[in-house]
Amino acid sequence: MNPYCLRELINKLKEAILDERRTAVLYACLSDMSESFQGVDAFAEARRDELDHAATLTRIVEKLTGRTPREATQPVEVEPIRDYCSGVRAAICGERDAIREYTELIELSRSRKLDRILEGIRADEEVHYAKFRKLYDTECVKPCVPCPSQDPWMSYASHIPYDGYS
Ligand SMILES: [Fe+2]
Ligand SMILES: [Fe+2]
Repeated sequence: MNPYCLRELINKLKEAILDERRTAVLYACLSDMSESFQGVDAFAEARRDELDHAATLTRIVEKLTGRTPREATQPVEVEPIRDYCSGVRAAICGERDAIREYTELIELSRSRKLDRILEGIRADEEVHYAKFRKLYDTECVKPCVPCPSQDPWMSYASHIPYDGYS
């Protein structure tokens, strides 16, 4: 493989390790914040997947370079989450970006074996993306506000003569 392409592949794999580890931290927070079983379960499961992805990518970089990359052990931080639903939105955007990044990595890869591993990770990210979209629709999209005329006070108030001054 062209040394320039190999270096680019290794650098992108290292970035992906950090992204996976950051995402795992975010999902641990969202799993704790969720008030539904579906939310707790979806984020806990995705967190385990992201940690598996980070471990798999670390083994690949170790094979290619002969050493453990710093990205596998350096401390990671995530942006604080304002509220659960903005966290779910961030998760959806992150998964969409991850799908694009793994597609780019597959294009850079010159090995069938590596292609298959990266395609497996991308398939997991597609499952996460779909699950979080569904979660957002069921938990974060507000239902219609009830019609005011069905409010007992409002139907009573509608019978009060309006004097035009208040
Ligand atoms: Fe991942
Ligand atoms: Fe994911």
